[in-house]
Amino acid sequence: MKFEKKILCIGAGYVGGPTMAMIAANCPQYKVTVVDINKQRIDAWKSQNLPIYEPGLLETVKTGRGRNLFFSTEVTKGIKEADIIFVAVHTPTKAFGHGAGMAADLQHWERTAHEIVKHSNSNKIIIEKSTLPVRTAEAMERILQANDKNIHFDVISNPEFLAEGTAIADLKNPDRVLIGSRETKEGIKARKTIVDVYANWISRKRIIESNVWSAELSKLIANAFLAQRISSINSISALCEKTEADVGEVAYAIGTDSRIGSKFLKSSVGFGGSCFKKDILNLVYICHGYGLTETAEYWESVVKINEWQQDRFVKTMLQNMFNTVADKKIAILGFAFKADTGDTRESPAISVCKELLEEHARLNISDPEAIPNAKMELAEAIKQGTGKVEFHKDPYEACKGVCAIAVLTEWEEYKSLDFKKIFNNMKKPAFIFDGRNILDHKKLFKLGFNVFPIGKSALKHY
Ligand code: NAD
Ligand code: UGA
Repeated sequence: MKFEKKILCIGAGYVGGPTMAMIAANCPQYKVTVVDINKQRIDAWKSQNLPIYEPGLLETVKTGRGRNLFFSTEVTKGIKEADIIFVAVHTPTKAFGHGAGMAADLQHWERTAHEIVKHSNSNKIIIEKSTLPVRTAEAMERILQANDKNIHFDVISNPEFLAEGTAIADLKNPDRVLIGSRETKEGIKARKTIVDVYANWISRKRIIESNVWSAELSKLIANAFLAQRISSINSISALCEKTEADVGEVAYAIGTDSRIGSKFLKSSVGFGGSCFKKDILNLVYICHGYGLTETAEYWESVVKINEWQQDRFVKTMLQNMFNTVADKKIAILGFAFKADTGDTRESPAISVCKELLEEHARLNISDPEAIPNAKMELAEAIKQGTGKVEFHKDPYEACKGVCAIAVLTEWEEYKSLDFKKIFNNMKKPAFIFDGRNILDHKKLFKLGFNVFPIGKSALKHY
């Protein structure tokens, strides 16, 4: 079949895979190829067991797979034939050298830029899909234009705003798609080409066009603002616990003001995920680079409050379990950083579990999707051997014989567990620490539990 355009995506991860599956499903006239250097990942994309868990993803992949959606490890071939190349490789926080712990590690991104130059023999539009520091497009252009093949590349910033667990719904019906380019004749022409791709299924009213720097920066700022709301309400959760105010009631009361809005005001054990912390720290690093100390410190406090909230959760557990958890069995319900994903990157469960293991606790960890990742996250801590860890897919098994339960992910199924049965199989006094405020606390108290929600008065039998 002759395709109108050939689209390539480099990086078959949480962003590249679902985004390209959505483009392919909605644009049968384009050939969409997703390449990755990780063969295992590519093989999984070709199978029934996709490499990531995401509701609705398999159906979307199946719509295009074999028709106009292809997964491959042949990066060179993919580059050669593509008209449009999305770059969706990971951009983690740098772990070494200058800017370690703050700056974005751009090595994977830069490698792809060099690969593109090396293997291209026709003009192409290159799209920054990864989240990148503002003004990265300038560096990308410099690498791409340094070719002696007389090839022209246009660099577009088209950051992704999908959230895990709702990726398919977000991609199908996004609040907006942002497409930034240089404001030259060629830049605007390239921008329009990408607008046309999305306009196959998204209303043009929702497609925002901007200059390339605004697009790059808006991605970092969107994540910073979302995370800031969580840290704001989490900082207030501590005050609620001291004053008998209820953080849920406070969030509802303030969220009904249309200027504030109700979303992203759920107090929790802290935000996780691969991006909020990394993107804010990157923003902080960039601000320091421009000498904007106050701006940097303001945003850094969002991350600090998040770390404090996780630590506060463990301290509440310790203080209420008579200042020791050594050799005590504790069930951890939920390890993923949020519900409906198996992703555990930066999950608050990691720091909570590590702290509890340092206190020599014995953990029974349960999660419907994240146990393989949880095992990897805790491998080192388990090897050090201070505490003990068991993994149970079945939450009832995980809760057998424990003296406390910590709910760390808001999985729907935890709301309807038979807590009477769980209570009867626990050591007494029985404690429950609801790090997501998803359970019926009064009911649990009546069953005999000592209940510790976030940002609400504890319900104790002593
Ligand atoms: P990921 O780690 O899941 O996937 C990245 C993939 O790129 C990996 O499979 C890796 O093997 C591949 N890769 C790296 N270098 C390569 C190369 N030279 N050639 C071919 N493949 C290569 O990462 P992700 O979660 O999909 O995130 C990708 C980017 O998107 C990041 O910048 C992230 O900040 C951003 N983002 C992520 C999300 C999210 O929900 N995860 C949402 C919006 C934006
Ligand atoms: C977030 C953004 O929501 C996406 O728009 C963005 O594209 C993405 O980061 C990214 O750049 O990677 P994601 O991290 O997948 O998406 O999930 P969120 O729904 O934002 O949740 C992040 C964390 O905040 C989770 O741990 C969640 O439990 C927590 N959260 C969220 C709260 O504690 N309270 C809330 O009210 C909302």
